[in-house]
Amino acid sequence: MQWIEEELERLRFESLYRQRSLREGLLDFCSNDYLAMKDHPEVIEESVKVLRNYGLGSGASALVSGYTKHHRDLEDKLSEFKLTPCCVLFGSGYLANLGTIPVLVGEDDLVLSDQLNHASIIDACRLSKSKVLVYRHGDYQHLEELLKTFRNYHRRCLIVTDTVFSMDGDIADIRTLKRYAEEFDCMLYLDEAHATGVLGPSGKGGLEEFGESWEDYIVVMGTLSKAIGSYGAFVCGSKVLCDYLVNKARSLIFSTSLPPAVCAGAKKAIEIIQRESWRVRKLKEKSELIYSRLSTIGLEVLFHHTPILPIMVYEEAKALDLRDRLLKQGILIQAIRYPTVPIGMARLRLTTTLRYTDDYLERLFKAFEKL
Ligand SMILES: Cc1ncc(COP(=O)(O)O)c(C=O)c1O
Repeated sequence: MQWIEEELERLRFESLYRQRSLREGLLDFCSNDYLAMKDHPEVIEESVKVLRNYGLGSGASALVSGYTKHHRDLEDKLSEFKLTPCCVLFGSGYLANLGTIPVLVGEDDLVLSDQLNHASIIDACRLSKSKVLVYRHGDYQHLEELLKTFRNYHRRCLIVTDTVFSMDGDIADIRTLKRYAEEFDCMLYLDEAHATGVLGPSGKGGLEEFGESWEDYIVVMGTLSKAIGSYGAFVCGSKVLCDYLVNKARSLIFSTSLPPAVCAGAKKAIEIIQRESWRVRKLKEKSELIYSRLSTIGLEVLFHHTPILPIMVYEEAKALDLRDRLLKQGILIQAIRYPTVPIGMARLRLTTTLRYTDDYLERLFKAFEKL
């Protein structure tokens, strides 16, 4: 198929071509395993124990026979951790957004979506067939103008945002968003993929960070694949919402449930995060340290007190060149380019994890100094 060759050639020409690089043998500075949970000995031990009893896969969707005690226990742990009455598991964050948003809003409804929301939210909004209005990133005055102009012409309304923006690391103002949701009678959908285990003194997420409580109109989505170090995702909210999702969300109904061992490992990871609250604090301190060292070297780093530290490069070709030169020194930091970020906003997305030892970090700083 000649057209595929041509399309790939165009991507190469525009420095937008992508290839997966094998991670083995490299120092990984771009993982989302912020709290170093994915290979914590207790997490592994718990998963292996369940793996031996239940086998590798769950065997079916949750509504057929893929719902075990380990799925239920993890849902209970998540609703306790996120301070919500109920929680439902999904196969991944992408599937959670794709399954949930289109059953909250439809053709007669309005969605207000932050300009920098994750691709899975954008796709879910399209799938919902609602009227989708994008407000400028973090510009809540713009959000208010749109609400004032359009809210009254629609049945239901959903305000949707990443709590921590995945490519910039900044934080949505949850208090302000709650105020608008209440004033304009909207639901508020928080994607806490990068906020869970990161924001708030005990890592509960955006509501804890802002000292706000959960309310009935708030839907809290999050992933197990970042700070929890596992795989999968969840949507937390009211009991009636959970019941509704089990009946309506197509990515839950028509997709095999998570492997039980993955659920057991994720539950153990949350227990460790709850038991060892120093982890969340230490993550912030480490991010601060990395940010200040890289800034001293002369790099332009965005820092919003989260572990996502984008090193701004702007030009796509330059970002690729920098990534490749770091790879030659054994360091992996992916170049993030369009369509993940706007054209001309390319960056190396460095992340902080508790895994980094002082030696590990010195190698990173030396590599940048050399460049
Ligand atoms: C904000 C946000 N939402 C959703 C997702 C999708 O999560 P998952 O990787 O579990 O599909 C991601 C991660 O890539 C994300 O950053």
